[in-house]
Amino acid sequence: MRSENIYILGIESSCDDTAAAIIHNGKKLSNVVANQQIHKEYGGVVPELASRAHQQNIVPVVQQAIAKANIDKKQLSAIAFTRGPGLMGSLLVGTSFAKSLSLGLGIPLIEVNHMQAHILAHFIDEEGYSQPNFPFLAMTISGGHTQIVKVNDHFDMEVIGETIDDAVGEAYDKSGKILGLPYPAGPFIDKLAQKGNPKAFPFPKPQVKGLDFSFSGLKTAILYFVQKNEKENPNFIKENLEDICASIQHTIVNILMDKLKKASKKTGIKEIAIGGGVSANSGIRKALMEGEKKYGWTAYIPKFEYTTDNAAMIAIVGYLKYLNDDFADHDIAANARVKI
Ligand code: KG4
Ligand code: ZN
Repeated sequence: MRSENIYILGIESSCDDTAAAIIHNGKKLSNVVANQQIHKEYGGVVPELASRAHQQNIVPVVQQAIAKANIDKKQLSAIAFTRGPGLMGSLLVGTSFAKSLSLGLGIPLIEVNHMQAHILAHFIDEEGYSQPNFPFLAMTISGGHTQIVKVNDHFDMEVIGETIDDAVGEAYDKSGKILGLPYPAGPFIDKLAQKGNPKAFPFPKPQVKGLDFSFSGLKTAILYFVQKNEKENPNFIKENLEDICASIQHTIVNILMDKLKKASKKTGIKEIAIGGGVSANSGIRKALMEGEKKYGWTAYIPKFEYTTDNAAMIAIVGYLKYLNDDFADHDIAANARVKI
């Protein structure tokens, strides 16, 4: 490992969060996120509005990240940016900005895969947090993805299971919409679930072979369940909201844990990590901790600030790639569908 001072600026703009962060030799100095509020009015992310908001936010967010890190931009060693996957209009803003700044400062550019970054966030050097040992299993659970990944090395990853339809975060957000909760509904359902009875309303679990997931059936089951009960009692949601949320959460956590157990059994790997927005969920965090006792796992649960989209995870990938001299050319383009 090199002994020099390496400062990486990370830029993330794949969806509806404009984020910038500085990592110094693997440690976070700053991690700034501008959350776009505009989408709440529409109950979901509106791509064109996201792109415009990124354009407004990117300069102040990057300036703040540099200021909070207490460094000068001339000290930066390289700029890492999210190349994909994500929304094209959103990715373009971060990509163009990163390219221009790297040219302006005369420092290297590093491309980052957003899904790899959700996994590699575990390598940010944080007091009280240990880093997973290779090979480990990473379950990425977010609004856009649900995957189980076998991680052989930092940049040697194999997707061994994934959703065939909706992502788990989408299941949370769409269920929340049916219940009249604000967008994104995941954190609201999680909070309400903690006061409800998880066994009040049994929802069906999908029967998907192997390590793949499916969540679209659950959303439809919840819709029919609510419609049926509202016919008999127009106040059904209001009177049972905590129990409904607890039951949804219980079902989703069971679906995730079933596949994770299967994956661990199949591969013989007991180092288990989670990442992505839904890894902030109290139910999955608790289930994973119990997995340590029940199945002899070592569970890696990210700090809350590294669960939902952030740029520290982009910057740590930048740091790891910098150590490998893995730089991007300036003719690189954003790629909305890039794979792990
Ligand atoms: O990783 P992320 O910020 O963006 C994507 O790359 O998709 O994930 C956002 C997703 C949303 O669907 C949101 O509802 C969900 O993460 N989420 C949660 C919780 N916090 C965020 N879902 C369940 N429980 C939570 N506590
Ligand atoms: Zn994400």
